[in-house]
Amino acid sequence: MTNGFPGKPGIRIAPSLLAADFARLAESVAVVERAGAEVLHLDVMDGHFVPNISFGPPIIASLRERSKMFFDAHLMIEEPKRYAEAFAKAGCDLITFHIEVTNDPASVVDHIRALNIGVGVSINPTTPVESVRDILDAVDMVLVMSVWPGFGGQSFIPDVLGKVEQLRGLLRDDQRLEIDGGIDAATIGDAARAGVDTFVAGTAVFRRPDPAHAFAELGSLAAAAGGAGVG
Ligand code: DX5
Ligand code: ZN
Repeated sequence: MTNGFPGKPGIRIAPSLLAADFARLAESVAVVERAGAEVLHLDVMDGHFVPNISFGPPIIASLRERSKMFFDAHLMIEEPKRYAEAFAKAGCDLITFHIEVTNDPASVVDHIRALNIGVGVSINPTTPVESVRDILDAVDMVLVMSVWPGFGGQSFIPDVLGKVEQLRGLLRDDQRLEIDGGIDAATIGDAARAGVDTFVAGTAVFRRPDPAHAFAELGSLAAAAGGAGVG
């Protein structure tokens, strides 16, 4: 199974669009793409699963025309099956749904897989790894939330690192382990040492004076801590 992530295995820093200037999204995307970002993290929020509303397929479709990055869509929405096709058509390369929104995760995995794109599943800070055990073989990526979803700029919850270590031991080499929330220069090392290979960073990239430099610094820190080469 290929999860479609660009290039060889290895560390990826995935800038989160949530923290970018929504009045200048194309420019923000271009800055990190020029800096070498291969993955763009798209935080989609419906105001139901999380108490915030961000953006949807139209915005993503516009950015798709201007970027070659891998679009990693994190759907923080109640009805992933209802909207997955629209996000795939808008140009998302992988769709991650939350295990908390369904009592039939296998059907959500199958639905997304049928769209011929990558499939991820996400667990909130207190959701146990057991909750995704039955679909672990079928997904390309597991996303461990290190903040409560809904807003960027929150503090990292280190308690989730135990789940990262547990998942690292369960996932195959061709599957990815992503973390999202509060990742910055101070927290990325612990996350890498716990076994994360894909690091979402919104504030730590787009809210910095020089996002390109911030992106590069995070990649170096993760590689140094994780030992893997930045792919
Ligand atoms: C939470 C969002 C954030 C965002 C990254 O719903 O998913 O975690 O991606 O936020 P920061 O700014 O903490 O990197
Ligand atoms: Zn996210």
